[in-house]
Amino acid sequence: MNVIIAKNYDELSRQAAQLVAQKIKNNPKLVLGLATGSTPVGLYQGLIELFKQKKIDFQKITTFNLDEYVGLAPDHPQSYHFFMQKNLFDHVNVPKERVFIPNGQAPDLEKECISYEQNIQKQGGIDIQILGIGRDGHIGFNEPGSSIDSRTRVVSLDVMTVNDNARFFQQDISLVPKQAVTMGIATILAAKECLLLANGAHKADIILQTLYGPITESIPASFLQKHENLTVILDKEAAGKLSENLKSRGIRYEDYSQKTGGGPLG
Ligand code: GLP
Repeated sequence: MNVIIAKNYDELSRQAAQLVAQKIKNNPKLVLGLATGSTPVGLYQGLIELFKQKKIDFQKITTFNLDEYVGLAPDHPQSYHFFMQKNLFDHVNVPKERVFIPNGQAPDLEKECISYEQNIQKQGGIDIQILGIGRDGHIGFNEPGSSIDSRTRVVSLDVMTVNDNARFFQQDISLVPKQAVTMGIATILAAKECLLLANGAHKADIILQTLYGPITESIPASFLQKHENLTVILDKEAAGKLSENLKSRGIRYEDYSQKTGGGPLG
C-alpha cells in the first residue's frame, strides 16, 4: 500500500490525474476502471486538461465503470452514464465502442451482470481501477455485508447511501434509486492496480477503518488491504486520523500536506 497525502482536493486531483496519465502513456491500450461520485471529478478534469494539451491520448484505451443505478435511463441527469459523459467522455476521445458502463435498465439484469464480467475478462482485465469510498465503507456499490467473492450483481443500497445521494435528487429520498448494478469486491480486487481517493473530514473515520481496521465485510473497502498494488491519495482532512498511525505501522507514505505543488508526480 502506498499512501499519498495531498495538501488539498486540487492537489489530490492533480496527483491522481498525473498517475493515471502516466499509466496511459506507458500503455496506450490501458483498460481503465472508472468511478463516479464527487471525489474523482477533479481527477477527470485533470485528465481532460492533459488531453487538451495533447499530453495523453484516449484513442486506444478501454473503460469499465464500477456501477450504475437500476432503472435510470442513460440520459437521466443522475445516471452514471450521464455523469461520465458530462465529466469525462464529452471532452476526450475514448471511442464509444470501448466505453462500458453497466446497463441498469437491462431487461435481464442477471444476464447483464454476467456479460459485464465476461467482457472485462475479454478485454484482458482491468489495469487500474479508480475508486471513491462511501461513508459506510462501500466501494462501487458494495455495501456492508458484501463478500470478498462477490462479482458484478444487483444490490440494494444502504439507508446511509440513499441519504447521502439524496443531494443529487433534490433532497427527495423517494427519487433516489434503491438498487444498483455494481462490480463485486472480487471484480475490483482482480484489477492489477487500485487507486483509492478520498477527501474531506467526513471521510476521515472510514479511511482510518479501511486502511488499518480489521478486514471485514462490514467495511467492504477494508478488503483493499489485501490488494498487492494499492495507491491511496487523500487530502489532509481525509487523512486526519492517520498520520501517527502510518509511521508506527510501517506503511509507505508520502506526506505533501504542508507543501505547495511538488509531490511524487511533479
Ligand atoms: C457513490 C458511488 C461510489 C462513490 C461514492 C462516494 O455511492 N457509487 O463509487 O465512491 O458514491 O461518493 P462521493 O465521492 O461523492 O463522496
